[in-house]
Amino acid sequence: MSLSFQQNFKLGILGGGQLGRMLIQSGIDFNIPFAILDPDPQAPCSALAAFHTGKLTDFDTVMKFGAACDIITIEIENVNTVALRELVKQGKKVFPQPDVIELIQDKRTQKIFYRDSGIPTAEFVLTENAADVRRHASFLPAVNKLGREGYDGRGVQILRSEKELANAFDAPGLLEKLIDFEKEISVIVARNEHGEVKTFPVVEMVFHPVQNLVEYLFAPAELPEAIAKEADTIARTIIDSLKMVGLLAVEMFVTKDGKVLVNEIAPRPHNSGHQTIEANITSQYEQHLRAILNLPLGDTSMVIPGAMVNLLGEPGHEGVARYQGFEEVAKVSGVHVHLYGKRFTKPFRKMGHVTIVDNDLARLREKTMFVKETLKVIAS
Ligand SMILES: Nc1ncnc2c1ncn2[C@@H]1O[C@H](COP(=O)(O)OP(=O)(O)OP(=O)(O)O)[C@@H](O)[C@H]1O
Ligand SMILES: [Mg+2]
Repeated sequence: MSLSFQQNFKLGILGGGQLGRMLIQSGIDFNIPFAILDPDPQAPCSALAAFHTGKLTDFDTVMKFGAACDIITIEIENVNTVALRELVKQGKKVFPQPDVIELIQDKRTQKIFYRDSGIPTAEFVLTENAADVRRHASFLPAVNKLGREGYDGRGVQILRSEKELANAFDAPGLLEKLIDFEKEISVIVARNEHGEVKTFPVVEMVFHPVQNLVEYLFAPAELPEAIAKEADTIARTIIDSLKMVGLLAVEMFVTKDGKVLVNEIAPRPHNSGHQTIEANITSQYEQHLRAILNLPLGDTSMVIPGAMVNLLGEPGHEGVARYQGFEEVAKVSGVHVHLYGKRFTKPFRKMGHVTIVDNDLARLREKTMFVKETLKVIAS
């Protein structure tokens, strides 16, 4: 990109879900022409940009889609990287780079990367199948993770006792020491082609005890300054050693004895950065666009403390979605509801999120609890 920002390019996004939707929302401000590829004709992006229906893992589909774009990015990691590599050879810009996507697609290669790069992470062993996991009884209590294609906690199980080994995944994966963490935190970091790097302030995630999904999130994280600094440094070290261009979310554990361990990374906008739309000078979505277009990175400072609640489909409800309590929460100052445009709800499906902002931290927590209790996604 030259000093005068050109607009005669097409930006392709692999994936047309809510992250793509919010990327488009931000891209409208830069007048970016988007093209989207997603297998679901009713995906959240389908009505918002030039939309192509097709499989993200299919070589020919990704090649054909990419051929009509100038810059290609992702909003989900499970894409055909062989095609992306070929598109790079043809002169297309692909950010994050295909080799980074590939490394992150497999939790096994992620862990090896942390170990080889001296990035602190939970101790682990690689496993090939269920029988292999069972051979590691002495490693328990542990977390058994599928190498590939796990998301939203679906490829993760806690194995505390030998009895639970019967549930082990029967596919290549890893066993990781169960960390009795104090907190889960995340740092979102961005890097452009010039090598400029900027981080967002640390956020704190609170997880749903059963579903392994983020239940709500708080920014700023309540942490000693030294731990926040350590998390920030780790995020910078990772993006620099990968030489990655784009946005990278770094999920970390803070242990009870004050250590920071990397859990996993995601090379795209992330659930833990939704609140930046309302709470920070630059949102994670705008920052991702700035990074991949090689523009100066934006100021990430927090303008106001924020919290984020995922709006999940209510258990026991399946069908056309309705939003109970919308008006009650809309009355509260600082509450911003984001709906993802999914027509059908089912239990725990991510249907939207709500950002809550308030300068007073106690009031922020109160309002967040009110939103959690009041706004429900039910089937009509
Ligand atoms: N070693 C560990 N010790 C303790 N808890 C863990 C460990 N690894 C994962 N968890 C818990 O399980 C959750 C999900 O794990 P992970 O982030 O690896 O899976 P995922 O399916 O890729 O997640 P998501 O898509 O929700 O980010 C973590 O956020 C954490 O709460
Ligand atoms: Mg995770």
